[in-house]
Amino acid sequence: MIKKLFRRKPVDLILTESLETENGLKRSLSLTHLTALGIGAIIGTGIFVLTGTAAANYAGPALTISFVISAFGCAMAGLCYAEFASMLPVAGSAYAYSYSTLGEFIAWFIGWDLVLEYLFAAGTVSVGWSGYVVSFIDSVGIHIPATLAGAPFNHINGHWMLSGCIINLPAVFIVAVVTALLVRGTKQSAVLNNIIVFIKITVIILFIGFGLSHINMQNWVPYIPQNTGTFGEFGLSGILRGAGVIFFAYIGFDAVSTVAQEAKNPQRDMPRAIMFSLVICTVLYVLVTAVMTGIVRYTELAVPAPIAVAIDRTGASWLSPFIKLGAIAGLTTVVLVMAMGQARIFFSMSKDGLLPKFLSKVSSTRKTPVNATMVTGVAAALVAGLLPINVLGELVSIGTLAAFVIVCISVLVLRKTHPAIKRPFKTPLVPLVPILGTLVCAAQMAALPMDTWIRLVVWMIIGFVIYFSYGRKHSKLYLAEIK
Ligand code: ALA
Repeated sequence: MIKKLFRRKPVDLILTESLETENGLKRSLSLTHLTALGIGAIIGTGIFVLTGTAAANYAGPALTISFVISAFGCAMAGLCYAEFASMLPVAGSAYAYSYSTLGEFIAWFIGWDLVLEYLFAAGTVSVGWSGYVVSFIDSVGIHIPATLAGAPFNHINGHWMLSGCIINLPAVFIVAVVTALLVRGTKQSAVLNNIIVFIKITVIILFIGFGLSHINMQNWVPYIPQNTGTFGEFGLSGILRGAGVIFFAYIGFDAVSTVAQEAKNPQRDMPRAIMFSLVICTVLYVLVTAVMTGIVRYTELAVPAPIAVAIDRTGASWLSPFIKLGAIAGLTTVVLVMAMGQARIFFSMSKDGLLPKFLSKVSSTRKTPVNATMVTGVAAALVAGLLPINVLGELVSIGTLAAFVIVCISVLVLRKTHPAIKRPFKTPLVPLVPILGTLVCAAQMAALPMDTWIRLVVWMIIGFVIYFSYGRKHSKLYLAEIK
């Protein structure tokens, strides 16, 4: 029984499937597309929304150091992702990797956990998008009633309460638009993504370039504000807590690995795209934070649109609407890539028989996983329309960190079980890098609140029930065994 639960999908089978292109997904994505997809998924709520509060409440100007620490954990995990993505270039990311290394049962949980990452991230960022859009169109005189732009439930200080709102309609709207795009075609979506990534980077570079000359060095003193006596409020512990909070800003680089099956040259391009997007984003994040805390004193940054506030402070208010528009465009691509990743996860799990078959249907004309995309869209719209951003964001972080830990461990396991398999990209300094990745990510999980852990456990119990009532009996590997 136990052995059956841990049945592994043979690596050779995964490789054969990855080469299947007929009647399958189309290989249309180049290195530029892939890197842009990574950046498209990474730069979003984290930099446009969370930096301000993280600087004001936890780290002060030293939030730049928090960004570097968080990037370090991501880079370790990224190097492990890259080995897998080059070796097993299949749709499904960490789910597919763990199916061949840690067995079906764990793989199911990783897949289920990735739903927490991608589906809920699409929801979270849609809520952020809604906030920016409502404020932008408000400034041009169009007012959306507050009752139609907020979740009906709030979660404050550990208690659920009614907010007085009905639904977050703009958030539902953006999910619907993105879903329609994804159904149309992966290539079209990737091209649109490229254009928007260009706009979002331009806006950020404009901010950095324009802001540089308005920095008041006095705002950087003290660089590491003194700890208030409470763990996590400034000082060194504040830098660490800051790293945990802005970890959200890096989520997304792993999304590149979910579209491996649609990459033209996955072996060469997947690892490069993952690392390129991570490095580019880290540099931009550190510069934005340095400029922002240089223009505005960190104590004044606990606002929803800190970059716009910093620009206003320079007197260049004309730039502010562009920044907001850039943020809106930027958040759109995050929703796009997250929803795209989620659909691929459903697709892979359904192909393996762990989820119902209709989810792996590929549209014959558009070559996209149409049903998986639609189901993702409906679920993400419900989440985005009904739940508050803080609950969503924390769930995304814990789900993602758990996936990172498993990927790091999987690299070690597969090196032992399949030492000879061709690895076009090898994680350097094994076992140091996977071990560091595991430790840094596990430490960040440990720093998250108890509430979030409880939600993770509840989510996993639901997954447990689904696996034992459906997946286990419909698994293709299981059906092949009993034939
Ligand atoms: N990294 C993404 C963001 O910050 C999820 O929005």
